[in-house]
Amino acid sequence: MYKIGIITMSDKGSQGQREDLSGATIGEMVANLGQVEQYRVISDDLEIIRSTLIEFADEHKLDLILTTGGTGLSPRDNTPEATLSVIDRLVPGIAEAIRVESLKKTPKAMLSRAVSGTRGKTLIINLPGSVKGVRECLAVVLPVLNHGLEILS
Ligand code: MTE
Repeated sequence: MYKIGIITMSDKGSQGQREDLSGATIGEMVANLGQVEQYRVISDDLEIIRSTLIEFADEHKLDLILTTGGTGLSPRDNTPEATLSVIDRLVPGIAEAIRVESLKKTPKAMLSRAVSGTRGKTLIINLPGSVKGVRECLAVVLPVLNHGLEILS
């Protein structure tokens, strides 16, 4: 069982103005993969995203961090930049596969700038913010995560 972290990027969610259904959806979908040890709803602030990713990876030593939200084109969408600034290796195939499969569902998938990569022994994967986006994108990568995390550990 792997140690998993979920981070929801949402200005409204972090102020208690929106229920985090997307984070809950991730939790349900990864139940068979491991234990969700850390879960946080944070604002879209670049520095807060950075420090939370670093804390989850380095202090809590999680195997997998799944983020939801903040991958689009709004000026407050900072998740890909924050992720790129903390990872040491890109895993481009994950984001590529997600986009390929997602484009079969909606052309809006091309608006997500989500990235994936590793920081030490932690795999970080960005997912879009909507429940639908989380369901569709996580379903693409879920079948390979056991193998990927096994190699990384
Ligand atoms: N990918 C899938 N599979 N399904 C979706 O519904 N929504 C898209 C896209 N990716 C979507 C998706 C939309 S509408 C946007 S704006 C971008 O993800 C970015 O979403 P975010 O800013 O909430 O991260």
